[in-house]
Amino acid sequence: MPSIVTLISGRGSNFEAIVKTAQKEQWPVTFTGVIANHYAAKGLDFARSQGIPAFAIEHREHATRESFDAALIQKIDELGADLVVLAGFMRILTPGFIRHFEGRLMNIHPALLPAFPGLHTHERALEAGVAEHGASVHFVTEGVDEGPIICQASVPVLPGDDPNSLAARVLAAEHQIYPRAVKWFLDGRLRIEGNQVQVKPPESQLIKL
Ligand code: GAR
Repeated sequence: MPSIVTLISGRGSNFEAIVKTAQKEQWPVTFTGVIANHYAAKGLDFARSQGIPAFAIEHREHATRESFDAALIQKIDELGADLVVLAGFMRILTPGFIRHFEGRLMNIHPALLPAFPGLHTHERALEAGVAEHGASVHFVTEGVDEGPIICQASVPVLPGDDPNSLAARVLAAEHQIYPRAVKWFLDGRLRIEGNQVQVKPPESQLIKL
């Protein structure tokens, strides 16, 4: 059975959405572990409640990014991961880490990439006055929030929105596309061609909400 290791930094609602969808749809998959970079990450509690092994590797206890990433690699490899899912993992990963998991490392970003990479995406979308905002699931390559896009969801920006209301609308969309992208991967339906991802057989890679 394929195995998934998830990395989180906080709340872990995307991780929860993936696990709940897997349970509901009875995916043949094992969640071999969740790793947070903080002991207090809320998402670890959900993992424990589901009997999923939960670990914290505190990044502040590592002198360098390289040493933190080496500890992460060791733990993930020990757990066994056909797919590594970054779900609100707020650390920049070293090129060595990314190469190690190339082709089996996914991330979700709260914007319609390539628009608004980096932080504070909802504030920046409002400032820019865009009519649509959203979220993207992508394979991870060495640039921050770059890499072949697997699936996107767009939501409207509504009059009166503030960063919180927009974030909530985007988060609901994230919870739809991340499980979908993970399932496509598990079903062997994703082909990376250059900077593009094809889904075989084809299915819409953009959801409009
Ligand atoms: C999500 O909105 C995710 O897109 C974002 O962090 C949040 C985590 O929420 N990720 C990034 O900004 C990565 N660049 P969650 O812990 O409830 O899944």
